[in-house]
Amino acid sequence: MVKICCIGAGYVGGPTMAVIALNCPSIEVVVVDISVTRISAWNSDQLPIYEPGLNEVVKQCKGRNLFFSTDIEKHVSEADIIFVSVNTPTKTRGLGAGKAADLTYWESAARMIADVSKSNKIVVEKSTVPVKTAEAIERILTHNSKGIKYQILSNPEFLAEGTAIQDLFKPDRVLIGGRETPDGLKAIQALKDVYAHWVPEDRIITTNLWSAELSKLAANAFLAQRISSVNAMSALCEATGADVSQVSHAVGKDSRIGPKFLNASVGFGGSCFQKDILNLVYICECNGLAEVANYWKQVIKVNDYQKNRFVNRVVSSMFNTVAGKKIGIMGFAFKKDTGDTRETPAIDVCKGLLGDKARLSIYDPQVTADQIQRDLTMNKFGWDHPIHRQPMSPTGVKQVSIAWDAYEASKDAHALCILTEWDEFKTLDYRRIFDNMQKPAFVFDGRNVVNVEMLRDIGFIVYSIGKPLDPWLKNMPAVA
Ligand code: UDX
Ligand code: ADP
Repeated sequence: MVKICCIGAGYVGGPTMAVIALNCPSIEVVVVDISVTRISAWNSDQLPIYEPGLNEVVKQCKGRNLFFSTDIEKHVSEADIIFVSVNTPTKTRGLGAGKAADLTYWESAARMIADVSKSNKIVVEKSTVPVKTAEAIERILTHNSKGIKYQILSNPEFLAEGTAIQDLFKPDRVLIGGRETPDGLKAIQALKDVYAHWVPEDRIITTNLWSAELSKLAANAFLAQRISSVNAMSALCEATGADVSQVSHAVGKDSRIGPKFLNASVGFGGSCFQKDILNLVYICECNGLAEVANYWKQVIKVNDYQKNRFVNRVVSSMFNTVAGKKIGIMGFAFKKDTGDTRETPAIDVCKGLLGDKARLSIYDPQVTADQIQRDLTMNKFGWDHPIHRQPMSPTGVKQVSIAWDAYEASKDAHALCILTEWDEFKTLDYRRIFDNMQKPAFVFDGRNVVNVEMLRDIGFIVYSIGKPLDPWLKNMPAVA
């Protein structure tokens, strides 16, 4: 029986291994982590992450051929294939701070593999890492090898949160990079055999190591670039009276461009886009490619601009001050169908409003009050470091309260800001909400989810990203 061990039971490791276990009953899959709480949660009925469909998959194979454990050394030493899916945060200090990836967790995982292994291993990079990390890992392993042979593969994961299970079941492609030597090709084939249990062969792409590593960074940079492009257009639409949804639709109909990832928003978030682009920028700079680095940096700058623009729009529409005013924040996760808040645009928007002394009442169907307080007190780039290293002010942010539902968050509020596109925000009783709000009552829709005409009929002043402006907003000072 082939044995797989995955180091790191997070958003990538957990769901990916569950889907491998479900589709490969003949393979034993053990997911290990240093976090005892995370492993206990995986072993309970309350999984540590919210992901539609995940519960059902885990239920079917947990205890059969899927196991979660903190006994890292035992399972690593027994495995034939080791996936490494640990976090690779942005460095907060030292060389490349604020840009380069911090490979501390990766390096300690590699050293541990070298320490405990007694048989040949295939080590698979799952977490996104800078190009040429595999080479560094290979060096650590071979310099401590005690005669054991290691093959390093890069197998970047392309799942998106909120749709992880369907992405894993029907991936657009599986990418496997490895050494182009006989042993390297054998290792590639061994991993290919795992995926071949459910992924059609023509969707499994094999490349050299560096191509696989770079492709992941490139794919995320291209996706984020589309969002920054459409968000840049949204500012121009507001200035001209064009409608960004109509522009996206017309542009996306060009089969060379395609319709996906063209939704204007308050900005992209998530654990990958900003981090991977910063990584790409750093790699370009290190290779003397300043122009290329600046090109990609602009994708992040437009994203920051979009979040600032939203805050400015809120403040300028409300008579240039939100001091002491209650604002209901609808949604805090970086997208719908996840409880993940890493790099969510809600953090910057809330911090911006708090900077103008607003009082916030935040509602999200999946994010805990603790997490919101932690996010609003955390330093930039702190979000991807382990929780026990996060600063948590004893009282949290005083101007912030957490609401149980959208109605509580909006009661007596002057404005609502929709920051996550949760489906439930489309069907709220907006008449009831309007009746319980201060007047004039504003809705700032950062995700273009509400029916603008209907809300205006009720009496709201509505702002939607990239849409023709409400007459009220037209007469307010222009936003930068
Ligand atoms: C992304 C990549 O899609 C995935 O392939 C990779 O493995 C990890 O990074 P993820 O961050 O989970 O996945 O979610 P994604 O659906 O890409 O959304 C990222 C951000 O972009 C979200 O904040 C989302 O709201 C925003 N977005 C997405 C837009 O603003 N507009 C769009 O049209 C699409
Ligand atoms: P991702 O979104 O990439 O899956 P997460 O932060 O959700 O990232 O998951 C990474 C996991 O890796 C965390 O649960 C963390 O505790 C775990 N981890 C980090 N370093 C190690 C290590 N050396 N050994 C085992 N687990 C580790």
